[in-house]
Amino acid sequence: MNQIEQIRVFKGKPYGIKGSFSQLPKLKEETTSQKWPRVISVSSGKGGVGKTLIVANLALAFTWLQKKVLVLDADLGLANINVLLGLAPRYTIEHLLKKKKKISDILINGPGGMFILPASSGVLELVNLEEEQKIFLLNELDELAESIDILLIDTGSGISSNVLYFNLAAEETIVVAMPEPTSIINAYALIKVLATNYKKKKFTILINSARNTQEAKEVYKKIIKLTDHFLGSLSIDYLGLIPFDEKLPDAVRQQKTVLELHPQAPSSLSFMELAKNLAEKTTPHGSNGCIQFFWRYLLHYHKDEG
Ligand SMILES: Nc1ncnc2c1ncn2[C@@H]1O[C@H](COP(=O)(O)OP(=O)(O)OP(=O)(O)O)[C@@H](O)[C@H]1O
Ligand SMILES: [Mg+2]
Repeated sequence: MNQIEQIRVFKGKPYGIKGSFSQLPKLKEETTSQKWPRVISVSSGKGGVGKTLIVANLALAFTWLQKKVLVLDADLGLANINVLLGLAPRYTIEHLLKKKKKISDILINGPGGMFILPASSGVLELVNLEEEQKIFLLNELDELAESIDILLIDTGSGISSNVLYFNLAAEETIVVAMPEPTSIINAYALIKVLATNYKKKKFTILINSARNTQEAKEVYKKIIKLTDHFLGSLSIDYLGLIPFDEKLPDAVRQQKTVLELHPQAPSSLSFMELAKNLAEKTTPHGSNGCIQFFWRYLLHYHKDEG
């Protein structure tokens, strides 16, 4: 039985991130034959800081770099990405979770040939997924692992259980912050919960809507000052900035990416640069990806607990 099959035999025993780990099936060591996508979550403490448009534009930029990209709209109760892209999906993750549709039925195509797993709008019961549903969703995603290079997750904002879960499932977490005190404090709050409660140690910070590099670096320094002071040693890298750009709200209103509408706009150039930098970066854990990484994370977490 391979590792994924082992995970699938686990059918929702009492379990939680802090829960009864001893009841989970044992994992074999990492297999090298399976191709794993790189899993990147885009998250924020405060809402409205640009996550969804960053995910949409970054995904398109990746497709232009010949990457096969899947976007997961993990803001499950409040559909974001398909609205931003003017797409009207017939089925959503809700149908998948209710076992009415298969993952291949709900996948839709977006610009550049990116794939999108769309969320539902106004579905309260999806705002806090049950543990079983979370595992089920990651298992389903695993079906697509071989066909994609990058899985980009728009997690939604805050410190809800869904937001935390999808950030833990991702190998790389991009925390988006704007040059505003509330955004800075809430970025710190998200990092704090992930670091102290779940021992996530590595983050990157992307500053959105900055007027220039100096302003972006100041925001980054403020976040670092807080994390250094209160949380000790974490790895928090500066990823870059997306400038304030009036072409962005214009693209949002037209339900298109700014990259398609205004490829030479300052924000478009930043998205391309960001995608290139990310694509060139080797991932910290080599082949680790989605569910594989998630399960290994849990293993380490509980080992650390003693
Ligand atoms: N760099 C920018 N320049 C100008 N306007 C921006 C910029 N980034 C974001 N915006 C504006 O902020 C709005 C919110 O962006 P978006 O919906 O992507 O945020 P979000 O973080 O996904 O929000 P939520 O937390 O509600 O999901 C956009 O519609 C756009 O008008
Ligand atoms: Mg959003």
